[in-house]
Amino acid sequence: MGISGGIAAYKTPTLVRAFIKQGAEVRVIMTPSSKDFVTPLSLATVSQNPVFSSFISEDQDNPLWNNHVEMALWADYMLIAPATSNTLSSMAQACCTNLVLAAYLSSQCKVFVAPAMDLDMYSHPANQKNLETLSDYGVVVLPTEEGFLASGLLGKGRMMEPESIIAFMEKDIYKTLPLKNKKVVITAGPTQEAIDPVRFIGNNSSGKMGFELAKRAADLGAEVILISGPTNLSIKHVNIKLEQVVTADQMFESSKKHYVDASVFIASAAVADFKPDNNATQKIKKGTGFDQINLLPTPDILAYLGKIKKDQFLVGFALETENELENAKGKLESKNLDAIILNSLNDEQAGFGGNQNKITYLQPNVNPISFELKTKQEVAVDVFDQILLKYEKLS
Ligand code: C5P
Repeated sequence: MGISGGIAAYKTPTLVRAFIKQGAEVRVIMTPSSKDFVTPLSLATVSQNPVFSSFISEDQDNPLWNNHVEMALWADYMLIAPATSNTLSSMAQACCTNLVLAAYLSSQCKVFVAPAMDLDMYSHPANQKNLETLSDYGVVVLPTEEGFLASGLLGKGRMMEPESIIAFMEKDIYKTLPLKNKKVVITAGPTQEAIDPVRFIGNNSSGKMGFELAKRAADLGAEVILISGPTNLSIKHVNIKLEQVVTADQMFESSKKHYVDASVFIASAAVADFKPDNNATQKIKKGTGFDQINLLPTPDILAYLGKIKKDQFLVGFALETENELENAKGKLESKNLDAIILNSLNDEQAGFGGNQNKITYLQPNVNPISFELKTKQEVAVDVFDQILLKYEKLS
């Protein structure tokens, strides 16, 4: 967020706080004159990030260059609010005299501006022309609001109110997201199959891969149902509904219910393949002896969904230790999947519990695509890039 020097800058801490409440990460840069209206300390406190306003860090014996390029490339979206006549004019002319302008000129992301000016200044043809120029460059110009202006005049030119800015940007961003109005269902984590009220059969799945996939799908605009077995993870995203289950049978019921109107279903859960056939209602005592657990198979959720598939895009995971590609291809076919993601336990640092994964993405009649070892967050991006390549053609 870039702040320039208009009186409306006093509203920016409220704006930053509202972005953070919506789950955004915010980094603030300021023009030097905006510091007359709002303090960097307030903005650093509410944004939970350092605030920069010059090309070099000011209060150091060894001055540091504040990398405007890195800041600009870090952002998914940039908002300049308030955007003054001076700042808008400089933006339109590629005039790079402060950090906000430098970051804007280096940005690759979508940029929004919230103009704030006095009535006559706003309607001056030079300003209207600059707004038109910026609009032609792809900048989204937020409308100004009518009301009392700092000059005492009444009219158009007030910066949009913080909550309206958020609503406007959300609407604008949402309409460009590729999975808007689509339901994406993801299974995650382990399941636990009770032996008695205190013991169970489980596995080491952390659920991290599934949770990252859910976040990515939500960021792409999908309504996400995350069906998760017991994990230590929590998730807070307006587009994600978490359904917590314990057993494979419960995961099966929940999956069937949500599959009907799903566009994409990803089975990343490590579902137990067997459950004890007779789970004791009381804790089995050490003294009574306990030398055998009879096991029954659990439902293969993914195979069932493959059988009843209509137009859902169905993706599975395969965790293999031998003949990896061959086994994964076998599952792709036998479970009637649109894609399967192979992660091998033979790859060091990758897989189950950790934060990283190394995957190969397989589809019918296409050469497998192998990715490097990456964080699970990055893997989730790769997975949805692949899904969207195919899915956009289908829908
Ligand atoms: O056949 P296998 O268990 O190796 O297949 C793994 C894939 O099948 C994963 O996507 C996993 O989530 C899914 N699966 C399932 N239900 C089971 C077992 C596995 O959905 N009972």
